[in-house]
Amino acid sequence: MAAAVPLLLLLAAAAAASPAAGGGKQTHIKLYFHDVLSEPSPTAVRVARAAVTNTSKTGFGLVTIIDDPLTEGPDLNSSTPLGRAQGTYIAAGKDEVALLMNMNFVFQAGTYNGSTVAIMGRNPVFDAVREMAVIGGTGVFRMARGYAQARTHTFDLKSGDATVEYHLYINH
Ligand SMILES: *[C@@H]1O[C@H](CO)[C@@H](O)[C@H](O)[C@H]1NC(C)=O
Ligand SMILES: *[C@@H]1O[C@H](CO)[C@@H](O)[C@H](O)[C@H]1NC(C)=O
Ligand SMILES: *[C@@H]1O[C@H](CO)[C@@H](O)[C@H](O)[C@H]1NC(C)=O
Repeated sequence: MAAAVPLLLLLAAAAAASPAAGGGKQTHIKLYFHDVLSEPSPTAVRVARAAVTNTSKTGFGLVTIIDDPLTEGPDLNSSTPLGRAQGTYIAAGKDEVALLMNMNFVFQAGTYNGSTVAIMGRNPVFDAVREMAVIGGTGVFRMARGYAQARTHTFDLKSGDATVEYHLYINH
């Protein structure tokens, strides 16, 4: 009986250390997200705006739909394509530039081909590091929980085109 107690404590400690969601795997993925608004082939399109959007200093009310390329390296033209970021972002900050990101990272090549990761979160784009929630996934990322960190790699103020470095930390 006395020997059973430490064993139970060990089991309890092991259960607490493993992630609550999924199969106990942890995956870190680094990739680059290319938000292309410029012609000739934009992958981010503005679909709606409010009456106040044009005069708002934060673009409040603007809704953008994306099908943005994801690549292994920072250069869109020469880096290995990994998939697409499909979804929307909404300018949801009235006094501060802050997007609400709502998107799936759809892997179409490499180790995770065929799987998706669902990301939702607040993206104050002028902050150095923005953290968003990984709220789920499919394929190898079923039951995913975790977080994403975004850092702007390049941003063209004139066209609005941006390349963003993303790190995903996923329990699944
Ligand atoms: C806001 O600006 C866009 C793009 O310049 C223009 O197409 C649209 O008509 C403007 N909307 C309003 C309400 O002024
Ligand atoms: C990538 O290619 C496009 C079109 O071919 C070109 O306009 C753009 O400048 C290139 N970008 C880089 C970073 O080389
Ligand atoms: C990704 O998977 C699809 C479906 O199985 C396959 O057709 C495609 O060739 C794969 N892509 C790469 C780059 O491996």
